[in-house]
Amino acid sequence: MEARTPRQSEAIVGDLMMPHQANGLRQPSVFGGVIMGMVDRCAALAAMRHSGGQVTTLSIDKILFKEPIRVGDLVEIRSRVVFVGTTSMAVVAHVYAENVSTATKRHTNECWLTFVHLDENGKPTPVPPLALETAEDRLLHDLALQRREQSLTEKR
Ligand SMILES: CC(C)(COP(=O)(O)OP(=O)(O)OC[C@H]1O[C@@H](n2cnc3c(N)ncnc32)[C@H](O)[C@@H]1OP(=O)(O)O)[C@@H](O)C(=O)NCCC(=O)NCCS
Repeated sequence: MEARTPRQSEAIVGDLMMPHQANGLRQPSVFGGVIMGMVDRCAALAAMRHSGGQVTTLSIDKILFKEPIRVGDLVEIRSRVVFVGTTSMAVVAHVYAENVSTATKRHTNECWLTFVHLDENGKPTPVPPLALETAEDRLLHDLALQRREQSLTEKR
């Protein structure tokens, strides 16, 4: 299998936040589950791009909602594969919220996810190697490796 770079797996998903996506607060912001769903879809796309096949979500690590996203904001998710094991891939997703009227763009969330590449029978199957290009690629790769080791230690 030919190695692929994190850049080659990059996926972008965008959506304009509508009133039906708001929570029930007196000053409504967008419901967290809407953002989580977009993050999962965008990260799955990156994992599919890297693996060239079907994938399933193994884990969604901590997602921190640092500031509210408002109805009317344009939400953009950007994700890429930053680490691969044998059958699994770690993906980092970044969430941006843009007030299109003022052209103000905020980085509101970061999330780490793990996907497993599945064969036609739904069994884990190997993924292509990851070719690291930049210092940032190497940093994210090392962070993902630490997270994976921690998660596997907790599993035992
Ligand atoms: C994903 C799934 C197929 C993995 O099955 P499994 O029996 O754990 O398979 P394996 O033991 O071969 O592990 C597959 C990969 O996951 C990794 N993995 C499994 N548990 C892990 C954990 N707790 N932390 C980190 N990695 C883990 C393994 O290390 C392996 O990766 P590697 O090949 O790169 O080393 C299975 O757990 C599943 O079907 N889960 C449901 C997925 C789903 O429905 N997602 C949608 C959300 S509801």
